[in-house]
Amino acid sequence: MKIRLSRPAGKTSAVRHMIGKPNAMVNSAASLPPTTTLLDLMRLAGGIAGEVIRHPRTFSVRTVFRKWARHAAARRGSANLVLNFGVKRILLVGGSELSKAILDARPSPGGITMGEAKRKGMSFLAPHALTISDGAEWERLRAFNEGVLEPGRPHEHERVFLGHVLAAFETPIRDINGIRAAMSRSMLGIVFGGKAPAWLADDVQTLVGLVQNPVKRRIMGFSGRRRRERFYAALRDLWRDPAAVRTASLLGVAHRSATARPAGDETLLLEQLPHWMFTFTGSGTDLVARALTLILSDADVRRRVETELEGTGALEEPATIRDLALVEACLIEGAHLFPPVTKTFHCAPAGASVAGVVIPPGMEVLHSFPLVAESDATEVRRFRPERWLESGRVTSGFDPFLGGARGCPGRSIILHVSKAALAVMIGRQRLTLDGVTLKTDDLPLEFPRRGVAFRPA
Ligand code: HEM
Repeated sequence: MKIRLSRPAGKTSAVRHMIGKPNAMVNSAASLPPTTTLLDLMRLAGGIAGEVIRHPRTFSVRTVFRKWARHAAARRGSANLVLNFGVKRILLVGGSELSKAILDARPSPGGITMGEAKRKGMSFLAPHALTISDGAEWERLRAFNEGVLEPGRPHEHERVFLGHVLAAFETPIRDINGIRAAMSRSMLGIVFGGKAPAWLADDVQTLVGLVQNPVKRRIMGFSGRRRRERFYAALRDLWRDPAAVRTASLLGVAHRSATARPAGDETLLLEQLPHWMFTFTGSGTDLVARALTLILSDADVRRRVETELEGTGALEEPATIRDLALVEACLIEGAHLFPPVTKTFHCAPAGASVAGVVIPPGMEVLHSFPLVAESDATEVRRFRPERWLESGRVTSGFDPFLGGARGCPGRSIILHVSKAALAVMIGRQRLTLDGVTLKTDDLPLEFPRRGVAFRPA
């Protein structure tokens, strides 16, 4: 993938010219995607109002926005769009080619880096989090994160981690909050070897709520900062506790690798931990809950999953979990239909041209994963996990953890955790649905926000 940096926004630059005339095409290979108009914005406002009137209790602005963006882009024959909100313009990535090209780039301040919205939010919790760093700091922290998370291979503590997950999911699960609580217990075991207080998991969830919501962040000002201080004080105590850092845990591996090869000061390293924590109760819980609901909604897939589970060895054996190809394909398909991470933000401070698209200097780039997935879709929304299976193995056709330089380094851990969780809930607890059932041959655009419940046998 080639990224060409634009000239800094000089008076005569092509980029500047195009911003003035949004729909203009330039003769060079790269061009700015078409720009929305006031009429489009009015259509969007009308769509939202109509949805609120039709479904006052269950309306989803996100669904309206996705449909609107898809139509606005299709009308202009482009997968990508510049959303013109008057005071602000945002480049919306809806096409897989541009998406891949942006994600392939190593984050650097002179090329493509994370967007302002993401940086502002995340720096409240962890100014040095890998996900908002770039350049030399990102390279160093990425190596540290990979050293601890061990992506692409079974983790050195996989067996211990599996023990934590099986114990956490022993309690019968009745709803998505039950899954979240079990994922939270799994996280405390995997990240801290069970040495951390349970409130630390609640704290990280509250703090992530503030990361995602700038208004709440402002309202909670002082108490939010106090909670963050308490959170880091507890992390620091654990980092300095010889018994905690001796456990077979991510904390233990992090401490060992920081001692062997200093990667930075203590604060910088501690700021890597929140990301390892909140994903279990956030996107990890979404991933598991959606796959479970889909499997239980589809009699045929459920029967095939049960057959796979009956034909394997003890769930305590990491290899058993690794070999659950259909269960893994169900997780991937669930994420394909209902992505647990729906968006990310980038920008090119000096401007760039990527995959034939001009990114003007500083313009926020919004990546919409559902739109990208839909741009490649050729059929109705149907739950078909077998589309990711070839000769009994999972193919790499779709990756909810993203590829490219910034791909998720926690992928192998969370997939193992999620497969084990599903194996327990379906194979041992024999859960059935006790609420919403999904129509798996014609699925909605959004996973239901309420009403999903389970009944143990
Ligand atoms: C279902 C669960 C998960 C999903 C869907 C997921 C997905 C993703 C995605 C899409 C990104 C890229 C984000 C972006 O560029 O804006 C990412 C990054 C990352 N993920 Fe995950 N993740 C999950 C679980 C985990 C877990 C369990 C860990 C650690 C234990 C983890 C650690 C990270 C880190 C450190 C990054 C930042 C990578 C970088 O910026 O170089 N993730 N993840």
